[in-house]
Amino acid sequence: MWSKESPVKNIPKDDSSYETITCDVLIVGAGGAGMRAAIASFDGGADTLIVCKTLLGKAHTVMAEGGIAASLGNIDPNDSWEVHFSDTIVEGQSISNWKTAYIYAKEVVDRVYELEQYGALFDRTDDGKIMQRPFGAHTYRRLCYIGDRTGLELIRTLEDQVLKRKIPFMDEVEITALFKDATGRACAALAIKNRTGELLLIQFKAIILATGGCGKVYEVTSNSYESTGDGLSLAYRAGADLMDMEMMQFHPTGMIYPAGVRGLLVTEAVRGEGGILTNVKGERFMERYDPKRKELSARDIVARSIYTEIIEGRGTANGAVYLDITKRGPEYIKKKLPSMYYQFLEFAGVDITKQKMEVAPTVHYHMGGVRADPETAGTNVPGFYAAGEVACGLHGANRLGGNSLGDILVFGRRAGIAAARFAKENSMGRAAGQDIEGEVKRILAPFDSPNGTNPFALKERIAATMWKHVGIVRNEKDLRAGLADIDVIAEDAKRVEAKGPRIYNESWVASIQVWNMVLECRAIITSALERTESRGAHTRSDYPAKDDAHWLANIITRDDGGKMVHEVVPVQKPPPEVAALIKE
Ligand code: FUM
Repeated sequence: MWSKESPVKNIPKDDSSYETITCDVLIVGAGGAGMRAAIASFDGGADTLIVCKTLLGKAHTVMAEGGIAASLGNIDPNDSWEVHFSDTIVEGQSISNWKTAYIYAKEVVDRVYELEQYGALFDRTDDGKIMQRPFGAHTYRRLCYIGDRTGLELIRTLEDQVLKRKIPFMDEVEITALFKDATGRACAALAIKNRTGELLLIQFKAIILATGGCGKVYEVTSNSYESTGDGLSLAYRAGADLMDMEMMQFHPTGMIYPAGVRGLLVTEAVRGEGGILTNVKGERFMERYDPKRKELSARDIVARSIYTEIIEGRGTANGAVYLDITKRGPEYIKKKLPSMYYQFLEFAGVDITKQKMEVAPTVHYHMGGVRADPETAGTNVPGFYAAGEVACGLHGANRLGGNSLGDILVFGRRAGIAAARFAKENSMGRAAGQDIEGEVKRILAPFDSPNGTNPFALKERIAATMWKHVGIVRNEKDLRAGLADIDVIAEDAKRVEAKGPRIYNESWVASIQVWNMVLECRAIITSALERTESRGAHTRSDYPAKDDAHWLANIITRDDGGKMVHEVVPVQKPPPEVAALIKE
C-alpha cells in the first residue's frame, strides 16, 4: 500500500515508466461524495485509497452553501420523506429515476443526523433542533444549514472522519484512464503524480468515481478550477453509460462583477431568507413568472426569468438584475449569510446590509452524468461505481437546491458499501499491457508537439463556445454552431503542446483535460440536439413545449466502436403505491 509521497525529482519528458500500487477500492475525487464513499468503504473492511487532482476537500461541494434538503420536520412538522420524494420527482420534470429519488428522500434524514453525530455544527432552533430554511420549489422549510457555509462544514466534517480513520489519500494526482480486464471488469487506472510528473498505475478490485461536474466547460460558472468533468470522459472511455448529458443547471444568481469573480455563487439562501429580485424598472418580476412561489420558484424557472428580463432590456447596465436582502437588517444578514456579506464587500465593494446585489445566472450543476444504479451506485461496468455530481439518476431535468449535498451523503455511502462488498467477493483483475502502453503514449504526446496549440487557449475557446451556443435557451442552429466549433477545437487539440518539465506541469494536465472537455461538450451538445422539447433546465426555443408523449425518457450516450451514439430509453414507471405519492 502506498504510504508517503515520493520526493520531487526531475524525470525525462519521454519517460514511460510507471510505479504500480494496489488497493481494494480506489476512490477518485475527494469532495463530499468521495469522502463519504471512502468512510463507508473503509468501515466495510476494504483497503481504501482516495486520489484527487488538487487537495483533499477542495471541491465544488463547498458551493452548495444554503443547506442539505432533508424532511426532518423541525420547522414544518407536516413535512415527510413522501413529500420530499414527490417534490424531487415533480421538479425533476418526471425524468428522475423514481427509485433513486425514493431511496434518497427516505435515507437523507438519517444521513443528516449521522453528519451531526460526526460533528457538523448545524444552526439551531431555540429548542436546540437542527434549523431548517425554505428553498426554491420545496413544499416545506427543509434545508438543514450552517449559515451560508453548509458545503464547507460538510467537507470539514467528513475530512475529520477520513483523517480520524487514517484512510490513505494521494492528492495532486490526475487519473487519465481506466482499464478493464479480459472479463470486462474495471481493474486499474493510470495517473500522473503532479508533484513529481511520474506516472502511476493503480490496480484495484473496485473503483468509485466521485469526480464532480463539468461546469468549467462554460465561461460563466460557479464551479472551481477542478470541475473539468474528467470523470465523465474516464467513464465514457471505459464503456460506462452516460445519461441526460444535456441537463445543465444554471443557478439563477451568480455575481456579475468584478470580472474575476463573474459567476461566483450567490446562494439561494439569500432568497430563502427573504431576498427580493427586481429589474431595472423596480418591478418584482417573479410575480409575473410564478405569482405563487415568486423568488422561491424552481431554479430553472427563476434562471429563465432573470435571463428573459436581461435580454428584453430590463436588466442593469452590467447585464444583471437586483437582489435585495437589506430589509433583514445587518445583524440578521451577518448571522445567516456571513459569506455573502464578505464576498460582496471584499470583491465588489457592496455592503449587502445596505445595498442591492447585482446577479445573473451562472452554470452551477450538471444533472447529467454516469448512469448509476439506485441501490448500489454501480454502473454498467462491473466493479465500477459512481456517486455525486458525476453520477446521474436523482435530479432529472431540474435539481432542487439542497438535494446535491444530500445526494453525496446518501449515494456516496451506498457506493462505498457496495464497492467494499464487491472487493471482498472478487480478486484483482489485470489490465492488458498494450492498453497501458497505448495510454502512456497518448498522455506523453503533448511533450512531443513542437509549435503545437496552447491548452489554456483551447480551454477558453471551449468555454466561450459553450456559453454562446449551449446556454439557458437553445435552438438547433446554435447547437450546430457550437458543435462545429467543438469539432474545430478537437482538431486543434490533437496538436496540443505541454511546455516545461514534468514536475507540476499545468500545461500537460490541461492538455489532457482539453481532450476530456471536448468529449463532454460533444456529449452535451448532441444530447441537446436529440431532445427536441423543452424540459426543466433544457429549453429549446425551436421546441418550446414539454412533450411527454415522446420525451418521458432519458438519453443515454455511449461509445460504440469509437463513435458516440445515443439511445432514448423511456423512464421507468413507479409501482402504483409509489406513483400515488407524486403530487403534481
Ligand atoms: O444556492 C445554493 O446555496 C446552492 C445550493 C445547491 O446547489 O444545492
